[in-house]
Amino acid sequence: MCGIVGYTGARQAVPLLLEGLRRLEYRGYDSAGVALVVEGRIDVHKAVGKIDRLERALGPTQPSGHVGIAHTRWATHGAPNLANAHPHIDCGGTLALAHNGIIENAGLLRAALAQRGHTFRSDTDTEVLAHLIEDLQARGQSFVDAVAGALSKVEGTYGIAVISTREPDTIIAARRGSPLLVAIGTNENFVASDASAVLAHTRSVVYLDDGEIAVVRPHEYRILDVDAVEKEKAVTHVAWDLGTIERGGYAHFMLKEIMDQPESLHNTLRGRLLEDEGTARLGGLNVTDEELLQINRIVITACGTSWHAALIGEYMIEELARVPTEVEYASEFRYRNPIVDARTLVIGISQSGETADTLAALREAKRRGARTLGLVNVVGSTIAREVDGGIYLHAGPEIGVASTKAFTSQIAALALLTLKLGRLRSLSILQGREIVRELVRLPHLVEQVLARAPEVEAVAERLLRAGNVLYLGRGYNFPVALEGALKLKEISYIHAEGYPAAEMKHGPIALIDDLMPVVFVAPRDAVYQKIVSNVEEVKARGGRVIAVVTAGDTGLARLADQRIDVPETLDFLTPILTVLPLQLLAYYIAVRRGCNVDQPRNLAKSVTVE
Ligand code: F6R
Repeated sequence: MCGIVGYTGARQAVPLLLEGLRRLEYRGYDSAGVALVVEGRIDVHKAVGKIDRLERALGPTQPSGHVGIAHTRWATHGAPNLANAHPHIDCGGTLALAHNGIIENAGLLRAALAQRGHTFRSDTDTEVLAHLIEDLQARGQSFVDAVAGALSKVEGTYGIAVISTREPDTIIAARRGSPLLVAIGTNENFVASDASAVLAHTRSVVYLDDGEIAVVRPHEYRILDVDAVEKEKAVTHVAWDLGTIERGGYAHFMLKEIMDQPESLHNTLRGRLLEDEGTARLGGLNVTDEELLQINRIVITACGTSWHAALIGEYMIEELARVPTEVEYASEFRYRNPIVDARTLVIGISQSGETADTLAALREAKRRGARTLGLVNVVGSTIAREVDGGIYLHAGPEIGVASTKAFTSQIAALALLTLKLGRLRSLSILQGREIVRELVRLPHLVEQVLARAPEVEAVAERLLRAGNVLYLGRGYNFPVALEGALKLKEISYIHAEGYPAAEMKHGPIALIDDLMPVVFVAPRDAVYQKIVSNVEEVKARGGRVIAVVTAGDTGLARLADQRIDVPETLDFLTPILTVLPLQLLAYYIAVRRGCNVDQPRNLAKSVTVE
């Protein structure tokens, strides 16, 4: 996601900061900025787009300064423009701050600060922190006390680096939920969100834990705990190479992104669940409850993996919110003569927000008078800008070409929308509360499934030589079967098909023999008994069955040759759990077959052509 790097020492800060930012580029960003303490004032330079632009903005004779912080921003609150790029400064221009994470109560804090006369220059949640620190300093608090005091008022997550004209050689860094470290050099020190930013200069780092604050100067650093008491921390020697660090220690981005899912899911849900009211708060929809009640039909349009999420959305919305819903491939929708009008809600789902077919479909829907919504991951992307409203996924940058964490965040975002629509129509408050409680539990359940990765790896071992694999599921897990098959074919180049399990007898059953593995996605849900019969049909023809089942299931355990357990959850949320073993299965098979999993042949991360 966003990246932070800071330097204090005898060398010129700007080249070191730019080099650090370049090392963080792989995380994805849409703007960048640098702030320095120069002769008693704060000097800030920012640019939208790539770091080269920031370098140009800094001019041929880069500003001179020995203390500075820098940031690459991946927009969450506010568009990716110059005003929203970090670092942010206070009213008096005496301090600058770079932040990763999300301040959930930014709205309230902003209103209170504005009342006290603070002027805001950006739409970001981050800027409130700069003004809060200024406010406390104006009341006589020291730099570090003001930072600690400001942080005690915020809800949400942060990794921050702050500089101030009051202590011109000092960087204050703090962490809650967003990684941050102090890197120790000789007569110089760094702060960074990721060791790769500083590895060219030192391998000795102190990783901050949640609640800790670091006071970093050229010749010393101090770590304070939540109660502002100084504490000793172990210095870690980083032995990894740069590539491994960028991938968070994982062999590939795809695996990192699969393993990221407890966190990405948490980020999708964060601040959006209202437990008392049993509903969801979706500020970006830009539509009133009355307008939502006027909607009499929903069309969801998307491509690839996002289209699979759309199918799950259709099932959810129809079952729980009782609004007639259809799903269309964006590439088909745009060239048909689709029936949509002012009471149709057309939802486009896209990780990148740039997929040409999805964009064109949404434009066509809009032209015909429909209200459009985007479920998009990349903030400020074309789809996000053009739709009437939407839900950002907040899954973080997805670098591996095969979509993984965006898919589970798409399902979670659809669940939030379903909850909101359902509570306006047919769902009771008790049903709403039950859904909220289960959504809160989900990241933890995802963690439990991912902990079983070694079991999935063992299953993969036995599928390496398969020429074809059939994936079957029913109900909410039929689209998961499609997604499992897509993952396998796109990264391992093994032919795979997904089908609704009961459709098998209308054709695909002819394929089944002892060479054709069949993956059943069969958690214990409303259609469980039905799918058991389908498994029997496969077994009767000598097929080899791999089943994703609910932990404790005994019925299928008897039939399956291999099983992978997932915990129990509400039926409509099971896809978030059942898809995880299928992502891992595809990954392990592809790696063992020597495929380039992060960059499969013929595929691009963002398909901006028809
Ligand atoms: C598959 C995959 C693609 C995308 C599709 C749509 O792993 O990544 O099928 O899902 O190209 O992309 P977005 O979601 O960016 O519109």
